[in-house]
Amino acid sequence: MEKQNLLYEGKAKKVYDTQDPGLLIVSYKDDATAFNGQKKGTIQGKGAINNQMSNLLMAALERQGVPTHLVRELNARETLVKRVSIVPLEVIVRNLAAGSFSARYGVEEGRAFDEPVLEFSYKNDGLGDPLLNDDHALALKLATREELALIRAYALKINQLLQKNWADRGIILVDFKVEFGRLADGTIVLADEISPDTCRLWDAQTREKLDKDRFRRDLGGVEEAYRQVMERLSSSL
Ligand code: TMP
Repeated sequence: MEKQNLLYEGKAKKVYDTQDPGLLIVSYKDDATAFNGQKKGTIQGKGAINNQMSNLLMAALERQGVPTHLVRELNARETLVKRVSIVPLEVIVRNLAAGSFSARYGVEEGRAFDEPVLEFSYKNDGLGDPLLNDDHALALKLATREELALIRAYALKINQLLQKNWADRGIILVDFKVEFGRLADGTIVLADEISPDTCRLWDAQTREKLDKDRFRRDLGGVEEAYRQVMERLSSSL
């Protein structure tokens, strides 16, 4: 399958169409941004790591009953995916307080929740991705009630499966963001990516951050952290 026209260039990926109207090619970049694009940089090797990590995780989720956009990896940084229209929701699941949750509610980072916390943001850079609830999403016609229920169920299942997968590798899944899309027939599937750009991953022993917070917060060792999580994921158990 060959790339044709560049359809879209985002902060971390480019999307191309192909000869098949139902299939797209995603190409992952080493570019990194934070704070809605205000901070910009490069993380050497990130594109390839995020591509391969996302594919490994999505393939595992697919085997365990979560439908995804993944078709097949084409090369180090490119993947063939099903064409979807993205549901404009950032679906966030949190197991421990961190990031914007800690800032908004005044809770120290690292406090574990009894139950996972699921939240939606409106995927809209112009508005700074504001937090919203189901009623807001319905009022804005971002999704139907049935789609919201399915997205919620998938997100919690993804959390269970990923939490276990990372725990087996000595990593705490603190929180993550996923996005869903609709296939041409309306089927909801997991889309976008799952990577250290979109998850908080802490070493279970040392609680060292092994994700994009190293870039967001200028902690150094960014490339090394991405390499380390990829290595732990690829090593057989
Ligand atoms: P937050 O605590 O900043 O709201 O982030 C929650 C999770 O979502 C965290 O794992 C990082 C991820 N995330 C993204 O994938 N994209 C974003 O633009 C933001 C702000 C967070």
